[in-house]
Amino acid sequence: MPDNPPRSMTARRSGPLQGTAAVPGDKSISHRALILGALAIGETRIAGLLEAEDVLNTAKAMRALGADLLRDGKGAWRVWGRGLGGLAELESVLDFGNSGTGSRLVMGAVATTAMTAVFTGDESLRRRPMKRVLEPLTLFGAEYSARDGGLMPVTLKGARQPLAIEHEVAVASAQVKSALILAALNAPGRSRVVQRALTRDHTEQMLRAFGAKIAVEELKDGGEAVEVTGEVDLKPATVDVPRDPSSAAFPLVAALIVPGSEVTLPGVLLNPRRIGLIDALKEMGADITINNARESGGENVGDLVAKFSSLKGIDVPAERAPSMIDEYPILAVAAAFAEGTTTMRGLEELRVKESDRLAAIVAGLRANGVTVEETEDGMAIEGRGPGGVPGGGLVTTHMDHRIAMSFLVMGLAARDAVSVDDVAMIATSFPEFESLMRGLGATFYLRNS
Ligand code: S3P
Repeated sequence: MPDNPPRSMTARRSGPLQGTAAVPGDKSISHRALILGALAIGETRIAGLLEAEDVLNTAKAMRALGADLLRDGKGAWRVWGRGLGGLAELESVLDFGNSGTGSRLVMGAVATTAMTAVFTGDESLRRRPMKRVLEPLTLFGAEYSARDGGLMPVTLKGARQPLAIEHEVAVASAQVKSALILAALNAPGRSRVVQRALTRDHTEQMLRAFGAKIAVEELKDGGEAVEVTGEVDLKPATVDVPRDPSSAAFPLVAALIVPGSEVTLPGVLLNPRRIGLIDALKEMGADITINNARESGGENVGDLVAKFSSLKGIDVPAERAPSMIDEYPILAVAAAFAEGTTTMRGLEELRVKESDRLAAIVAGLRANGVTVEETEDGMAIEGRGPGGVPGGGLVTTHMDHRIAMSFLVMGLAARDAVSVDDVAMIATSFPEFESLMRGLGATFYLRNS
């Protein structure tokens, strides 16, 4: 991405959004399908893979690490893995672009493989904390060196004789938990990873399908323990990737705030640990219906129908943060169009995402005439009511795809147009965003054009 010149875009108040929007495959599940496929022995088949930059960088990394990957058609991939501990020594550095998930998960796989790998990424990723994953990986016997503050580029030397671990993850991060689980797969004996926050569980779910020996125990004093028995060969699996709720969030909220809208979003992942946004929006009075709720590939999915709604401000509990951690930027936009104040707390993790998302949201809201109070770990947004957001601002996205998409959605219902300084990063997670939103009736134009 750094090679692409910034592309500034404006969104203008639009007529009712109407129609059906099939958002692309879930990013978290797509990364995991490629990585687990590369660690299994035999042919893994994936349907509905998200073909966005973040995931394609993971595919590139798995190829560099010796797996064979073949793309049969849109979203249809086959992966032939090398087996646990079978990743190949590298000739070059692994560049994960903008992706925290890809880089941190692969660090887990490398940590218990007898090899050395160098990890890097774009300007945004090179600013993000890696110690949170590297430090616990040393418990397996891995060694690392990083730039001051635990920043990339990072050199990780996998343990030659890995040890099983018992560890409580200090941060509410599915990436850290998943990295430890992936490392444990190649450490003899039983590893135990405890996490107090119930973060997304796609790694655990998918590992069952790949034949891993994994058990999850609910802890009486809160949280859960994941126990992994190491050195159990993974068998290949078939993975049908449901559509990404974190991408669906943008047309969903757009439909709620643009008068007269009705939008259908088919086949969206509704894993209970990913639907905090839907819960919050419903509490705000959103007209969202879930049709055809079903199970697909071990995950809950359903078709969402969202209609324009009069929203009211709510207090979003801190405990809900893990189930909607990527959705706060777009929830903030919904809150700006609600009557009354919406408060959000427990958001310290937002400060270490693709940008300091809390600061970026606050600055974006203020630039568009919305009053917001920022605290260390949260914000209180004074809603302006339906149609009441002044708009007219230029939002700095800080290389953050979700900031860019959220404020473009704001522009569809604000009084004056809203611009974002760069839309290039949207391709990291949702390359079809612009065309899909236009298909529903959104008005976007290149700024200054
Ligand atoms: C992800 C976990 C979350 C989330 C990210 C995807 C994952 O990050 O923000 O977009 O796939 O495990 P953290 O684990 O750092 O909270």
